Amino acid sequence: MAVAEAVRSGRLTQLTGSFVRDFEVAFGQWHNAGDCVATSSGTAAIHVALGALGVGPGDEVLVPAHTFIASATPVLHQGATPVFADVDEKTFCISAESVAERLTERTKAIVAVHLNGHPADMDALLEVAASRGVAVVEDAAQAHGAFYKDCKVGTIGVAGCFSFWEDKIITTAGEGGAVISDDEALVERMRRMRHHGEGAVEDAGERAYYHLELGYNFRMTSVQAAAGLVQLRRLGEYLDVRRRNAGYLSERLGELEPIEPPFVADYAVHSAYKYICRLRPDAGIDIARFVAAVAAEGVPVSRRYPTPLPQQPVFRDAGFAGAPCPVAERLSGELFTLLVHPTVQAADLDDYVTAISKVLKALA
Ligand SMILES: Cc1ncc(COP(=O)(O)O)c(C=O)c1O
Repeated sequence: MAVAEAVRSGRLTQLTGSFVRDFEVAFGQWHNAGDCVATSSGTAAIHVALGALGVGPGDEVLVPAHTFIASATPVLHQGATPVFADVDEKTFCISAESVAERLTERTKAIVAVHLNGHPADMDALLEVAASRGVAVVEDAAQAHGAFYKDCKVGTIGVAGCFSFWEDKIITTAGEGGAVISDDEALVERMRRMRHHGEGAVEDAGERAYYHLELGYNFRMTSVQAAAGLVQLRRLGEYLDVRRRNAGYLSERLGELEPIEPPFVADYAVHSAYKYICRLRPDAGIDIARFVAAVAAEGVPVSRRYPTPLPQQPVFRDAGFAGAPCPVAERLSGELFTLLVHPTVQAADLDDYVTAISKVLKALA
């Protein structure tokens, strides 16, 4: 209905219609955030956040070695240097200790990724960052509705970036993103970067076609925003089902010795975006063989980020591999992903457990 209304309105864009602003207001309010800037993707959200913070050539930005590529590529697009930090053994999120070791006088920002729906340890990161006046940008692409202590993720750092890609916790019709922030000046600059660096409209509401700085076309469409408004109303319900599915799997898979179900820190409420397990190395089972065998049983399973970012050719071949990240490197050979989104049925979860038990017996 909302999407049809957006199409029928004939005002299909952020510049001509009102859906995008409505979505920004609703998503911002859901977080009790100062404001929200909708973007064409989560990658664009991170890009405008870093760009608006002034990240550029000569700056270093700390990013976790174990995450999706888009947590780090905006750093390169801004002409800055990505510096990879190791991740925490249990939460798989960026380690504040490793960040502290790698901070320099050139560090401009830290990208705190709330990976798989588990919040990064924000207090520890903010403390390290404050010691040098470094900004913390949250990459909450996988963590809508997760909590760090009493705070929704995305509201803790200077800006919180979200993705609405089709498999995310909510989607804006396939692609989309947003940044929330309480910093008005930052929000204004992010809006400008999203739309060709253009200055505000003139008094009569006419566009001035006057461009203050280099920007992009990172705008969301009316149809995406209309879909997002509907999805947002269902976010609480989606999170409940995801968490229930994840809880059930942890009960069942926790009984299988070689499997370590996802850890949830005391400070965290997980959003159960993806269900990531560790295949304990002492079981002596090769992860690739295990995943192939479980997949052959008809289970939608895959390895989780088998190549750490420092080893990705896009970074490695450009000289950005940096210091070793031993935990990220080890985890890349131990993790696998199961799906817990709201359309996964109880019988599907039982099928996962049956298939995994069978494969473990066969490969042990
Ligand atoms: C951790 C993380 N950061 C950033 C992104 C980028 O989001 P998008 O695909 O919407 O550009 C994703 C998307 O998968 C992600 O998982």
